[in-house]
Amino acid sequence: MKIIGTGSAMPKHTVSNAMLSEFLDTSDEWIVPRTGIHTRQIITDETLQKLAATAACKALEDSGLKAEDIDFILCSNVASNYVTPAMSAFIQEATGCTCPFLDINGACAGFIYALDIADAYMKSGRAKNVLIVCAEEVTKFCNWKQRETSVLFGDGAGAVVVSCDGEDMPVVLTGDASHRDVITYRRRLESTPFEDASTSIDEAMILKGRDVFRLAVTASQRDIKAVMEKAGLEAKDIRYFMLHQANKRIVAAIQENMGLPDENFPTNIDHTGNTSSASLPLLIDEMARQGRMHQGDRLLLNAFGAGFVTGAAIVKWGK
Ligand code: UT7
Repeated sequence: MKIIGTGSAMPKHTVSNAMLSEFLDTSDEWIVPRTGIHTRQIITDETLQKLAATAACKALEDSGLKAEDIDFILCSNVASNYVTPAMSAFIQEATGCTCPFLDINGACAGFIYALDIADAYMKSGRAKNVLIVCAEEVTKFCNWKQRETSVLFGDGAGAVVVSCDGEDMPVVLTGDASHRDVITYRRRLESTPFEDASTSIDEAMILKGRDVFRLAVTASQRDIKAVMEKAGLEAKDIRYFMLHQANKRIVAAIQENMGLPDENFPTNIDHTGNTSSASLPLLIDEMARQGRMHQGDRLLLNAFGAGFVTGAAIVKWGK
Protein backbone atom coordinates (compact mmCIF):
# COMPACT_ATOMS: atom_id res chain seq x y z
CA MET A 1 0.00 0.00 0.00
CA LYS A 2 1.31 3.47 -0.82
CA ILE A 3 0.29 7.07 -0.17
CA ILE A 4 -0.46 8.87 -3.43
CA GLY A 5 -2.04 12.12 -2.24
CA THR A 6 -2.30 14.30 0.86
CA GLY A 7 -4.25 17.34 2.04
CA SER A 8 -5.02 19.29 5.17
CA ALA A 9 -7.21 22.06 6.53
CA MET A 10 -6.52 24.00 9.70
CA PRO A 11 -8.65 26.47 11.66
CA LYS A 12 -7.51 30.05 11.11
CA HIS A 13 -7.31 31.08 14.78
CA THR A 14 -3.77 30.70 16.20
CA VAL A 15 -3.47 30.53 19.98
CA SER A 16 -0.08 31.12 21.59
CA ASN A 17 0.98 30.04 25.06
CA ALA A 18 0.98 33.70 26.08
CA MET A 19 -2.70 33.93 25.06
CA LEU A 20 -3.50 30.95 27.29
CA SER A 21 -1.71 32.51 30.24
CA GLU A 22 -4.14 35.45 30.06
CA PHE A 23 -6.91 33.27 31.52
CA LEU A 24 -5.11 30.17 32.87
CA ASP A 25 -2.45 29.86 35.55
CA THR A 26 0.13 28.70 33.00
CA SER A 27 3.06 30.07 31.03
CA ASP A 28 5.21 29.62 27.95
CA GLU A 29 8.02 28.67 30.37
CA TRP A 30 5.95 25.73 31.67
CA ILE A 31 4.41 24.57 28.38
CA VAL A 32 7.39 24.63 25.98
CA PRO A 33 9.92 22.50 27.91
CA ARG A 34 7.25 19.97 28.96
CA THR A 35 5.46 19.57 25.62
CA GLY A 36 7.28 21.36 22.80
CA ILE A 37 4.09 23.28 21.97
CA HIS A 38 4.35 27.00 21.09
CA THR A 39 1.07 27.56 19.24
CA ARG A 40 -2.00 25.60 18.15
CA GLN A 41 -4.92 26.29 15.78
CA ILE A 42 -8.34 26.28 17.42
CA ILE A 43 -11.77 26.14 15.76
CA THR A 44 -13.79 29.33 16.19
CA ASP A 45 -16.34 29.97 13.44
CA GLU A 46 -15.35 27.01 11.22
CA THR A 47 -17.03 23.62 11.36
CA LEU A 48 -15.05 20.39 11.64
CA GLN A 49 -17.16 18.93 8.82
CA LYS A 50 -15.96 21.72 6.51
CA LEU A 51 -12.30 21.27 7.52
CA ALA A 52 -12.58 17.49 6.96
CA ALA A 53 -14.19 18.01 3.55
CA THR A 54 -11.55 20.58 2.50
CA ALA A 55 -8.66 18.29 3.53
CA ALA A 56 -10.30 15.42 1.63
CA CYS A 57 -10.79 17.45 -1.56
CA LYS A 58 -7.15 18.57 -1.47
CA ALA A 59 -5.89 14.98 -0.99
CA LEU A 60 -8.07 13.75 -3.85
CA GLU A 61 -6.81 16.49 -6.15
CA ASP A 62 -3.20 15.84 -5.09
CA SER A 63 -3.58 12.12 -5.89
CA GLY A 64 -4.56 12.87 -9.48
CA LEU A 65 -7.48 10.46 -9.14
CA LYS A 66 -11.11 11.26 -9.93
CA ALA A 67 -13.93 11.01 -7.40
CA GLU A 68 -15.19 7.81 -9.06
CA ASP A 69 -11.75 6.15 -8.57
CA ILE A 70 -12.18 6.16 -4.76
CA ASP A 71 -13.61 2.84 -3.56
CA PHE A 72 -14.03 3.62 0.13
CA ILE A 73 -13.93 6.64 2.46
CA LEU A 74 -12.77 6.20 6.06
CA CYS A 75 -12.92 9.03 8.56
CA SER A 76 -11.26 8.90 11.95
CA ASN A 77 -12.99 11.15 14.47
CA VAL A 78 -13.36 10.82 18.22
CA ALA A 79 -16.33 13.19 18.56
CA SER A 80 -17.96 16.15 16.87
CA ASN A 81 -21.24 18.02 17.15
CA TYR A 82 -22.84 15.54 14.74
CA VAL A 83 -23.48 12.18 16.32
CA THR A 84 -25.13 11.12 13.09
CA PRO A 85 -24.72 11.16 10.13
CA ALA A 86 -21.06 10.31 10.21
CA MET A 87 -18.37 12.88 9.31
CA SER A 88 -17.60 10.75 6.25
CA ALA A 89 -21.05 11.56 4.83
CA PHE A 90 -20.02 15.23 4.62
CA ILE A 91 -16.77 14.14 2.99
CA GLN A 92 -18.52 12.06 0.37
CA GLU A 93 -20.83 14.96 -0.49
CA ALA A 94 -17.97 17.48 -0.81
CA THR A 95 -15.64 15.26 -2.86
CA GLY A 96 -18.33 13.95 -5.20
CA CYS A 97 -17.32 10.35 -4.44
CA THR A 98 -20.08 7.77 -4.67
CA CYS A 99 -18.41 4.93 -2.72
CA PRO A 100 -19.39 3.65 0.76
CA PHE A 101 -18.14 5.62 3.76
CA LEU A 102 -17.55 4.89 7.41
CA ASP A 103 -16.37 6.72 10.54
CA ILE A 104 -14.13 5.02 13.10
CA ASN A 105 -13.04 6.03 16.60
CA GLY A 106 -9.57 4.69 17.27
CA ALA A 107 -8.79 7.70 19.47
CA CYS A 108 -5.38 9.24 18.69
CA ALA A 109 -4.35 5.98 16.99
CA GLY A 110 -7.28 6.21 14.53
CA PHE A 111 -5.07 6.83 11.49
CA ILE A 112 -3.17 3.55 12.01
CA TYR A 113 -6.45 1.67 12.45
CA ALA A 114 -7.87 3.31 9.31
CA LEU A 115 -4.77 2.30 7.33
CA ASP A 116 -5.21 -1.27 8.52
CA ILE A 117 -8.87 -1.35 7.45
CA ALA A 118 -7.93 0.15 4.08
CA ASP A 119 -5.22 -2.49 3.66
CA ALA A 120 -7.69 -5.28 4.50
CA TYR A 121 -10.14 -3.95 1.89
CA MET A 122 -7.32 -3.87 -0.64
CA LYS A 123 -6.14 -7.38 0.18
CA SER A 124 -9.67 -8.74 -0.16
CA GLY A 125 -9.96 -7.08 -3.57
CA ARG A 126 -12.79 -4.81 -2.45
CA ALA A 127 -10.85 -1.55 -2.88
CA LYS A 128 -7.96 -0.20 -4.92
CA ASN A 129 -7.99 3.41 -3.69
CA VAL A 130 -9.12 4.55 -0.24
CA LEU A 131 -9.55 8.12 1.01
CA ILE A 132 -8.67 8.42 4.71
CA VAL A 133 -9.53 11.61 6.56
CA CYS A 134 -8.70 12.28 10.22
CA ALA A 135 -10.61 15.26 11.61
CA GLU A 136 -10.52 16.25 15.26
CA GLU A 137 -11.61 19.09 17.51
CA VAL A 138 -10.24 17.92 20.85
CA THR A 139 -10.28 21.49 22.14
CA LYS A 140 -14.05 21.02 22.46
CA PHE A 141 -13.59 18.15 24.96
CA CYS A 142 -11.47 20.22 27.35
CA ASN A 143 -12.49 22.06 30.45
CA TRP A 144 -10.95 25.47 29.68
CA LYS A 145 -10.57 26.19 33.36
CA GLN A 146 -8.15 23.24 33.68
CA ARG A 147 -4.59 24.01 32.61
CA GLU A 148 -3.62 20.31 32.77
CA THR A 149 -5.53 19.45 29.57
CA SER A 150 -6.45 22.60 27.67
CA VAL A 151 -2.88 23.72 26.88
CA LEU A 152 -2.09 20.42 25.13
CA PHE A 153 -4.55 20.25 22.25
CA GLY A 154 -5.26 21.79 18.86
CA ASP A 155 -7.77 21.17 16.05
CA GLY A 156 -7.38 20.25 12.40
CA ALA A 157 -8.04 17.79 9.59
CA GLY A 158 -5.54 15.79 7.57
CA ALA A 159 -6.22 13.42 4.67
CA VAL A 160 -4.41 10.90 2.52
CA VAL A 161 -5.32 8.81 -0.50
CA VAL A 162 -3.81 5.35 -0.29
CA SER A 163 -3.56 2.98 -3.21
CA CYS A 164 -2.93 -0.71 -3.60
CA ASP A 165 0.50 -1.57 -5.00
CA GLY A 166 0.28 -5.29 -4.41
CA GLU A 167 2.65 -5.14 -1.41
CA ASP A 168 1.58 -6.07 2.09
CA MET A 169 1.51 -3.23 4.61
CA PRO A 170 3.19 -4.43 7.81
CA VAL A 171 1.08 -3.37 10.78
CA VAL A 172 0.78 -4.15 14.48
CA LEU A 173 -2.21 -3.08 16.54
CA THR A 174 -2.71 -3.54 20.25
CA GLY A 175 -5.50 -2.76 22.65
CA ASP A 176 -5.27 -2.91 26.42
CA ALA A 177 -8.48 -1.88 28.15
CA SER A 178 -6.91 -2.36 31.59
CA HIS A 179 -5.74 1.26 31.05
CA ARG A 180 -9.18 2.43 29.92
CA ASP A 181 -9.25 5.15 32.59
CA VAL A 182 -6.13 7.13 31.59
CA ILE A 183 -8.04 9.28 29.08
CA THR A 184 -11.83 9.67 29.27
CA TYR A 185 -14.42 12.10 27.95
CA ARG A 186 -18.09 11.43 28.67
CA ARG A 187 -20.90 13.25 26.91
CA ARG A 188 -24.44 13.70 28.20
CA LEU A 189 -27.08 12.34 25.86
CA GLU A 190 -30.76 13.31 25.94
CA SER A 191 -32.67 12.03 28.96
CA THR A 192 -35.71 9.83 28.53
CA PRO A 193 -38.78 10.14 30.80
CA PHE A 194 -37.85 6.71 32.21
CA GLU A 195 -34.63 7.63 34.00
CA ASP A 196 -33.41 9.97 36.67
CA ALA A 197 -32.02 12.89 34.61
CA SER A 198 -30.02 14.19 37.58
CA THR A 199 -27.68 11.19 37.37
CA SER A 200 -26.75 11.75 33.72
CA ILE A 201 -23.11 12.60 33.15
CA ASP A 202 -21.62 15.73 31.65
CA GLU A 203 -17.90 15.73 32.15
CA ALA A 204 -14.99 17.22 30.20
CA MET A 205 -11.87 15.25 29.32
CA ILE A 206 -9.93 13.66 32.16
CA LEU A 207 -6.31 12.91 31.34
CA LYS A 208 -3.82 11.16 33.59
CA GLY A 209 -0.85 12.79 31.87
CA ARG A 210 2.00 11.00 33.60
CA ASP A 211 0.37 7.57 33.13
CA VAL A 212 -0.22 8.29 29.45
CA PHE A 213 3.38 9.44 29.04
CA ARG A 214 4.78 6.24 30.54
CA LEU A 215 2.41 3.95 28.64
CA ALA A 216 3.10 5.80 25.39
CA VAL A 217 6.89 5.51 25.54
CA THR A 218 6.75 1.79 26.41
CA ALA A 219 4.05 0.88 23.89
CA SER A 220 5.47 2.94 21.04
CA GLN A 221 8.94 1.38 21.38
CA ARG A 222 7.40 -2.09 21.51
CA ASP A 223 5.21 -1.47 18.43
CA ILE A 224 8.01 0.14 16.40
CA LYS A 225 10.28 -2.85 17.09
CA ALA A 226 7.49 -5.33 16.34
CA VAL A 227 6.48 -3.77 13.03
CA MET A 228 10.09 -3.60 11.82
CA GLU A 229 10.58 -7.25 12.76
CA LYS A 230 7.36 -8.19 10.99
CA ALA A 231 8.54 -6.35 7.87
CA GLY A 232 12.07 -7.77 8.09
CA LEU A 233 13.43 -4.21 8.06
CA GLU A 234 16.01 -2.36 10.10
CA ALA A 235 16.08 1.29 11.17
CA LYS A 236 18.33 2.17 8.22
CA ASP A 237 15.56 1.05 5.82
CA ILE A 238 13.08 3.59 7.27
CA ARG A 239 13.22 7.17 5.94
CA TYR A 240 11.04 8.71 8.65
CA PHE A 241 9.72 7.55 12.00
CA MET A 242 6.52 9.58 12.23
CA LEU A 243 5.14 9.41 15.76
CA HIS A 244 1.84 10.70 17.12
CA GLN A 245 2.43 14.36 17.99
CA ALA A 246 1.25 14.27 21.62
CA ASN A 247 4.35 15.58 23.33
CA LYS A 248 7.77 16.37 21.88
CA ARG A 249 9.36 14.73 24.93
CA ILE A 250 7.68 11.40 24.10
CA VAL A 251 9.13 11.52 20.57
CA ALA A 252 12.54 12.59 21.92
CA ALA A 253 12.63 9.77 24.49
CA ILE A 254 11.96 7.14 21.81
CA GLN A 255 14.43 8.70 19.38
CA GLU A 256 17.11 8.80 22.06
CA ASN A 257 16.53 5.16 23.02
CA MET A 258 16.81 4.15 19.36
CA GLY A 259 19.98 6.24 18.93
CA LEU A 260 18.83 7.86 15.69
CA PRO A 261 19.24 11.50 14.54
CA ASP A 262 16.57 14.25 14.76
CA GLU A 263 16.30 14.16 10.98
CA ASN A 264 14.57 10.74 11.12
CA PHE A 265 11.96 11.87 13.68
CA PRO A 266 10.14 14.86 12.20
CA THR A 267 7.77 16.83 14.44
CA ASN A 268 5.31 19.66 13.97
CA ILE A 269 3.73 19.72 17.43
CA ASP A 270 5.36 23.12 18.06
CA HIS A 271 2.66 24.75 15.89
CA THR A 272 -0.19 22.20 16.01
CA GLY A 273 -0.49 20.95 19.59
CA ASN A 274 -1.90 17.44 19.96
CA THR A 275 -4.55 17.03 17.24
CA SER A 276 -5.40 13.41 18.16
CA SER A 277 -5.72 11.14 15.10
CA ALA A 278 -5.21 14.08 12.73
CA SER A 279 -1.62 14.51 13.92
CA LEU A 280 -0.01 11.96 11.58
CA PRO A 281 -1.78 12.90 8.33
CA LEU A 282 -1.15 16.57 9.17
CA LEU A 283 2.56 15.87 9.64
CA ILE A 284 2.71 13.82 6.42
CA ASP A 285 0.97 16.55 4.42
CA GLU A 286 3.17 19.29 5.84
CA MET A 287 6.34 17.36 4.99
CA ALA A 288 5.06 16.57 1.49
CA ARG A 289 4.42 20.27 0.88
CA GLN A 290 7.95 21.01 2.09
CA GLY A 291 9.31 18.57 -0.52
CA ARG A 292 10.73 16.25 2.13
CA MET A 293 9.16 13.03 0.79
CA HIS A 294 10.53 11.05 -2.13
CA GLN A 295 9.15 8.20 -4.19
CA GLY A 296 9.71 4.89 -2.42
CA ASP A 297 10.48 6.41 1.02
CA ARG A 298 9.35 4.08 3.78
CA LEU A 299 7.44 5.84 6.55
CA LEU A 300 7.04 4.12 9.90
CA LEU A 301 3.87 5.52 11.48
CA ASN A 302 3.17 5.03 15.17
CA ALA A 303 0.41 6.24 17.49
CA PHE A 304 -1.24 5.65 20.87
CA GLY A 305 -4.47 6.83 22.37
CA ALA A 306 -7.39 6.44 24.73
CA GLY A 307 -8.52 2.88 25.19
CA PHE A 308 -5.56 2.22 25.54
CA VAL A 309 -4.96 1.54 21.83
CA THR A 310 -1.65 1.60 20.03
CA GLY A 311 -0.28 0.67 16.66
CA ALA A 312 2.44 1.01 14.08
CA ALA A 313 2.47 0.59 10.30
CA ILE A 314 4.99 0.95 7.50
CA VAL A 315 3.75 2.60 4.31
CA LYS A 316 5.51 3.74 1.17
CA TRP A 317 5.49 7.23 -0.23
CA GLY A 318 4.17 6.59 -3.71
CA LYS A 319 4.17 9.95 -5.48
O1 UT7 B 1 -2.77 11.82 22.74
C1 UT7 B 1 -2.76 11.33 24.07
C2 UT7 B 1 -3.17 12.45 24.98
N1 UT7 B 1 -2.36 12.70 26.14
C3 UT7 B 1 -1.04 12.92 26.21
O2 UT7 B 1 -0.36 12.77 25.27
C4 UT7 B 1 -0.43 13.38 27.49
C5 UT7 B 1 0.88 12.74 27.82
N2 UT7 B 1 1.46 13.33 28.99
C6 UT7 B 1 2.14 14.51 28.94
O3 UT7 B 1 2.33 15.03 27.87
C7 UT7 B 1 2.65 15.10 30.23
O4 UT7 B 1 2.45 14.21 31.30
C8 UT7 B 1 1.98 16.46 30.57
C9 UT7 B 1 2.51 17.52 29.59
C10 UT7 B 1 0.46 16.34 30.42
C11 UT7 B 1 2.35 16.90 31.98
O5 UT7 B 1 3.75 16.96 32.16
P1 UT7 B 1 4.37 16.42 33.54
O6 UT7 B 1 5.80 16.74 33.51
O7 UT7 B 1 3.98 14.98 33.64
O8 UT7 B 1 3.69 17.34 34.64
P2 UT7 B 1 2.67 16.96 35.81
O9 UT7 B 1 1.34 16.58 35.25
O10 UT7 B 1 3.30 15.98 36.69
O11 UT7 B 1 2.54 18.34 36.56
C12 UT7 B 1 3.65 18.94 37.20
C13 UT7 B 1 3.17 20.22 37.85
C14 UT7 B 1 1.95 20.06 38.75
O12 UT7 B 1 2.13 20.93 39.85
P3 UT7 B 1 2.64 20.35 41.27
O13 UT7 B 1 1.62 19.33 41.68
O14 UT7 B 1 3.98 19.75 40.99
O15 UT7 B 1 2.68 21.59 42.11
C15 UT7 B 1 0.80 20.58 37.91
O16 UT7 B 1 -0.25 21.12 38.66
O17 UT7 B 1 2.78 21.18 36.84
C16 UT7 B 1 1.47 21.67 37.12
N3 UT7 B 1 0.81 21.90 35.84
C17 UT7 B 1 0.91 23.09 35.17
N4 UT7 B 1 1.55 24.24 35.46
C18 UT7 B 1 1.46 25.26 34.58
C19 UT7 B 1 0.06 21.05 35.10
N5 UT7 B 1 -0.33 21.65 33.95
C20 UT7 B 1 0.18 22.92 33.99
C21 UT7 B 1 0.13 24.00 33.08
N6 UT7 B 1 0.77 25.15 33.42
N7 UT7 B 1 -0.52 23.93 31.92
